[in-house]
Amino acid sequence: MPYRTFTPEQLTPSQRHHYLLGTVNPRPICFASTVDKDGRPNLAPYSFFNIFSSTPPVFIFSVNTRRDGSIKDTLHNVKEVPEVVINLVNYPMARQMAICGVEYDTGINEFEKGGFTPIPSEKVKPFRVKESPVQFECKVLETRAMSDKPGAANLIIAEALLIHLDESILADENTIDPHSIDMVGRMGNFNYCRASGESVFAIRQPPADIAIGFDNLPEHLKTSKTLSGHYLAMMAGVTKLPGSDTISGFANQPDVQKFITNFNKQSNDKTVLLHEEILNYLEKSEIENAWKLALWAEQSGVI
Ligand SMILES: Cc1cc2nc3c(=O)[nH]c(=O)nc-3n(C[C@H](O)[C@H](O)[C@H](O)COP(=O)(O)O)c2cc1C
Repeated sequence: MPYRTFTPEQLTPSQRHHYLLGTVNPRPICFASTVDKDGRPNLAPYSFFNIFSSTPPVFIFSVNTRRDGSIKDTLHNVKEVPEVVINLVNYPMARQMAICGVEYDTGINEFEKGGFTPIPSEKVKPFRVKESPVQFECKVLETRAMSDKPGAANLIIAEALLIHLDESILADENTIDPHSIDMVGRMGNFNYCRASGESVFAIRQPPADIAIGFDNLPEHLKTSKTLSGHYLAMMAGVTKLPGSDTISGFANQPDVQKFITNFNKQSNDKTVLLHEEILNYLEKSEIENAWKLALWAEQSGVI
């Protein structure tokens, strides 16, 4: 596949911005509540944001200076009062949040503009957003400018002192239900995505269980035109392969016998037929059966 390759300097600032934000996504949104030294509240969304440590809980979000070199209220405020409440943004509040991204004049209260309810924090001065399902009361550890040019990013490194979780997002004491929390992510341009329903899927690949890996797949699987990387990864993700007894037991099952009889009669490309049957198992998440069939074919020398 041909690539288009650039050094950052070959791109205009707006192209660079577009390529980076259109590709590094979806990004979670830090809905940052701050106050100035007189206690006036400010609320603004920032999607250059993530968590970088859970022990202690440390977040970083980034506030650009504007193209005219002026400083956004959030950065100004955390320099005056080094505290922030990071509220997370879910689908029901996303449109209201977007209003708070408008460049209102300093001193304008975005809680009022966006129709949000300020509630007091326990450990810091900035308010929490009642409508947000998760609020982190944080102290700002450090702000760090990436350059002194207009548009430059300023990292705000913040540590959570208190974590508030709306009980409705908890499946039980230890599990957050992704469908109830219903998070949104920022994409490129004006696009967002919603992380609930069919968009959410699980890949159970525990780091401590040492998977066999693609290099241990039989050669005919590695070069398969039927099985994509997605399906081969289901097979490469196992920790051990079925033994010969289980394979014989499997091959003697009536439905498998039916496949084998038909398979043996074929004179065309048998590998394709075999891979299609393996795919049938994988689509039903029957990985063990997919392996048994693949190993049966190898051991009986039919491909
Ligand atoms: C979803 C979303 C994400 C944003 N992310 C960022 C960001 O990461 N960095 C930034 O400087 N501005 C970002 N903005 C723009 C700011 O929110 C906007 O400039 C805002 O007016 C700043 O408000 P303030 O001056 O009250 O801090 C984002 C806007 C939206 C709607």
